[in-house]
Amino acid sequence: MSDFDFIKAALNQPHDSVPIWIMRQAGRYLPEFMAVREKASFMEICRSAELMTDVTLQPIDILGFDAAIMFSDILLPLAPLGVKVSYDSGGPRITPPVRTPDDVTGLKNYIPADEMSYVLIGLKAIKERLNDRVPLIGFCGSPFTLACYLVEGASTWSFLEIKKFIYNYPKDAMVMLGQLAELTGKYLKAQIEAGADAVQLFDSWGGILPPDYYRKFSLPYIKTVFEICKTEGVPRILYLNNSAPYLELLAELDCEVIGIDWRTDLDRAKTILEGKAIQGNLDPQMLFGPPELVQKEATIILDKTADMDSFIFNLGHGILPQTPVDNVKLLVNTVHSFSKPK
Ligand code: CP3
Repeated sequence: MSDFDFIKAALNQPHDSVPIWIMRQAGRYLPEFMAVREKASFMEICRSAELMTDVTLQPIDILGFDAAIMFSDILLPLAPLGVKVSYDSGGPRITPPVRTPDDVTGLKNYIPADEMSYVLIGLKAIKERLNDRVPLIGFCGSPFTLACYLVEGASTWSFLEIKKFIYNYPKDAMVMLGQLAELTGKYLKAQIEAGADAVQLFDSWGGILPPDYYRKFSLPYIKTVFEICKTEGVPRILYLNNSAPYLELLAELDCEVIGIDWRTDLDRAKTILEGKAIQGNLDPQMLFGPPELVQKEATIILDKTADMDSFIFNLGHGILPQTPVDNVKLLVNTVHSFSKPK
């Protein structure tokens, strides 16, 4: 049995304190990360095992989180499909985007353990330097969320291109999603083989779909990914932003942990997701409020989940740039000083 409270919570095993990590914990809110970014581009960090390790460990050393998440990005596995993935100040760009059934046919197939070997080498380097201090989380994007970027070609608020694709070419969309599911399942499995102690699938944009379409265009592909990477003792986490309308559907998934956003009522999630661990769900923007608010709202979440052995504290989505670091420290201390009733 693992000695880490994070793994114990994910597997619903008794443990003493509530574990906390936060999505996007290595990043631009930390001056120490910005110092690395002054000297290296985002891609340079992602391609260097040493820099990946440096920035992955920063939030562990500075803030004391109970799990590390490898520094990388969900969009990197799109490049070997034959598109260009770049990051500039306006956000990520994928060129050319997929817009027609022919574009789907043109996507290359590849072996994740080969094409993504630079990430796996970085993951092993992180494991080595962590030296079992905290567990390491591997990750990738859900097939649907990756398809959003592949079709939109950039971040979007309207999601018009991906919806046009799904509504006009449902069969071709399914072919693309099936291909992405195979690739991401194998990619997560390779991360586990390289040493990841847990894996998280980010379904950041699945929540834009009507529930019947979530059932058809996101859920089955998540199932495939989790089937392929299923490994005894390695928790599989699904994070879904805007999860409230889909909780009943998520309850059916074969995975250990569901990550929920701040719009989702914790008591309702506990009832519907009975048997699974829950991860979440403080509104990341609350960290811009006064310290008393951070403490009060964190304590409300801790009180609501105090009877669970399967709760992992996190934000409801990624931490934002400019978040005051002192409030993050206060959050970690509040969670760590909370005693679970015996
Ligand atoms: O959590 C961590 O600390 C590990 C690193 C990590 C990054 N991206 C680093 C990153 C993780 C887990 C991600 C996941 C990711 N990437 C998601 C899912 C999580 C979510 O927020 O919903 C998504 C949708 C992406 C795609 C992506 N990558 C976008 C939209 C952007 C630009 C906007 C932004 O958030 O910065 C990126 C770039 C990116 N990924 C940066 C970092 C630190 C900023 C790049 C820079 O430093 O210039």
